[in-house]
Amino acid sequence: MSGPSRRTLARALEALADFADPSPALEQYLTPPEIAAHIAHQARMQGDLEGWTVDLGTGTGMLAIAASLAGAESVVGIDVDPEALALARTNAARIDEAGSDGPLEWVRGDAVEPPLSPPVDGDVTVLSNPPFGAQRGNRHADREFLETARSIASVSYTIHNEGSQAFVESYAADAGADVTHAFRAEFPIANRFEFHTEAETTLEAEVFRIEW
Ligand SMILES: C[S@@+](CC[C@H](N)C(=O)[O-])C[C@H]1O[C@@H](n2cnc3c(N)ncnc32)[C@H](O)[C@@H]1O
Repeated sequence: MSGPSRRTLARALEALADFADPSPALEQYLTPPEIAAHIAHQARMQGDLEGWTVDLGTGTGMLAIAASLAGAESVVGIDVDPEALALARTNAARIDEAGSDGPLEWVRGDAVEPPLSPPVDGDVTVLSNPPFGAQRGNRHADREFLETARSIASVSYTIHNEGSQAFVESYAADAGADVTHAFRAEFPIANRFEFHTEAETTLEAEVFRIEW
């Protein structure tokens, strides 16, 4: 199966603009290009980009655009924040100089109650870097995004904070699903939120591929 290398994807994704005025409440921070490229590359290698690909909480559009560049057939990016969607659109145009947005669509909506139903025919792959709930004292806010993945997807790739493996595996097992891949990823996060005290904070994250 051919397509851009992971490195080529990552280089292209470095051109995407970050949130200009990120909302702490919505946990808006960029998924690092390297991680987005890794996920999209894995998804392509697994044949997971052949149906619909849905990026829940698309933000800057990073994961949706990564999937599109990796050759996804149809991609939908969903976010509650209209400004994030405007940024995602601009980012998509930045990548696709013809401005066609390729297979990308942007939808405003709540990922917890997604404004779409699975296509009758065809598989859905969810890619998501959900809010972790870390700033709201709401540990496992990512559970709601997993719930959406469970309800609409046959496969999902989700990013969680460090120490989530037991939670994700038990959630998947309860749903009769399998965690087929797990890997760690480092998130350098710029210090733009008041609660951060260092110039840059590195968040350890974990990525899981689940077959639902
Ligand atoms: C960690 S950021 C994801 C960043 C994105 N992958 C990127 O690289 O730009 C979480 C995103 O989820 C969005 N979000 C938070 N709660 C949401 C909800 N209930 N429904 C849809 N989007 C939501 C935020 O606006 C934010 O863009």
